[in-house]
Amino acid sequence: MSEPLRIALAGLGTVGTGVIRLIETNAQLIARRARRPIVITAVSARDRTKDRGVDLSGYAWHDDLTAMAALDNVDVVVELVGGSDGPALTLARNTIAAGKALVTANKAMIAHHGLELASAAEAAGTPLKFEAAVAGGIPVIKGLSEGAAANSFERVYGILNGTCNYILSTMEDTGADFADVLSDAQRLGYAEADPTFDIEGIDAAHKLAILAAISFGAKLDFAGVDATGISRIIAADIAQARALGYVIRLLGVAETDTSNGALSLFQRVRPHLVPIDHPLAHVDGPTNAIVAEGNFMGRLLFQGAGAGDGPTASAVVADIIDIARGERGAAFSMPVAELEPMGRAETGHRPVRAYIRFTVKDRPGVLAEITAAMRDAGLSMESLIQQGRADEGGEVIIAMVTHEGPELAVTQALDLLKGSDNLTAPPLWMGIIGD
Ligand SMILES: NC(=O)c1ccc[n+]([C@@H]2O[C@H](COP(=O)([O-])OP(=O)(O)OC[C@H]3O[C@@H](n4cnc5c(N)ncnc54)[C@H](OP(=O)(O)O)[C@@H]3O)[C@@H](O)[C@H]2O)c1
Repeated sequence: MSEPLRIALAGLGTVGTGVIRLIETNAQLIARRARRPIVITAVSARDRTKDRGVDLSGYAWHDDLTAMAALDNVDVVVELVGGSDGPALTLARNTIAAGKALVTANKAMIAHHGLELASAAEAAGTPLKFEAAVAGGIPVIKGLSEGAAANSFERVYGILNGTCNYILSTMEDTGADFADVLSDAQRLGYAEADPTFDIEGIDAAHKLAILAAISFGAKLDFAGVDATGISRIIAADIAQARALGYVIRLLGVAETDTSNGALSLFQRVRPHLVPIDHPLAHVDGPTNAIVAEGNFMGRLLFQGAGAGDGPTASAVVADIIDIARGERGAAFSMPVAELEPMGRAETGHRPVRAYIRFTVKDRPGVLAEITAAMRDAGLSMESLIQQGRADEGGEVIIAMVTHEGPELAVTQALDLLKGSDNLTAPPLWMGIIGD
């Protein structure tokens, strides 16, 4: 067996301690698969005195994590600190500049700085790997960039944020409202104390941008992801969707678009209605799932744990094993110079069947005003649910599903209703995912 591969571990939180436990537990099996032992030689975090539930006495502690790249006894730096910039980015840059391999689970950093880091890694001839950054324990990056590498991808979409999926599926099971389920999720550890990145769709947008670059050979464009989260979903939306044969899921959807004559990229994170017979409708709790459609392979479904110490450590250590074996694939499946700069797709012409929810005053003429706006925008209704009548003068919820039409017709109909004193809150619309 060859010389050990020596690892510096920066960050000893959920994922970092998971990596220690995994490397210790499966050391022999990993050494046989990697054809060399993998040993941790250096560790770093903020607080040296914290009890982390793992024995750190055998590892050299470093107070300054950004300096770990320069250590002579380190071949691979594993960045598990988090944050798009700050010490994580400094460490990443230092590691690559030192000609060492970098493994990270940091989707925010890769979404913002992935091209810079991948270019630097190519120039330095050193690997940059981030399997754990997208969908935690699911080997989707490897699956798409290796197993499915021969395909041209048409569409990649899925459930990329476990916190949102937990909240939506719990709302579905219990009938509870968003705020109540969110506070339960925080208490149970499924949501962060500051849940903004998760519930506003930003975390899913980080992952979608990375997936889109890998799938379509596109230049990474995180700023081009149109992201909306789940904070406006109410219990009534879940109930109406169910009555119409759907569940609600936060989906990231990426597609290439040639409708304007040039190749452009559509990237969107939004809650969608998913037909109950679609595989994604059965993905509950904090699970992630990704569907990839390739021109020769057809549809692939990846499903599994999108977070947590064990699953995420599994993806991190898989990257380390690849490096130990000397496998050196490009970070984004092809060299950065081969990635195509794609414009951002126009959305107005996109065909959509939409669910629209109106919160309106309970008085005559309201439905007539809504249907007139829809008619003027060229949008027709497929089904309508009006939820119970409130007390005189109260609010009523009207939910509908439209026939397929251009997205522009939906936004135009809603624009026509802006300022109407029949509406007591801005309407909410969601697309219905097709087959
Ligand atoms: N948790 C998941 O399930 C999961 C899944 C996929 C990807 N990820 C990604 O994995 C990364 C780590 O996530 P995590 O959940 O393990 O985070 P975490 O539990 O908050 O751990 C972060 C670690 O980084 C250390 N750290 C933070 N700022 C530091 C600084 N300025 N200097 C030195 N050390 C610092 C912390 O030190 P102290 O412990 O001393 O405070 C802690 O050990 C993130 O990029 C995250 O997005 C996480």
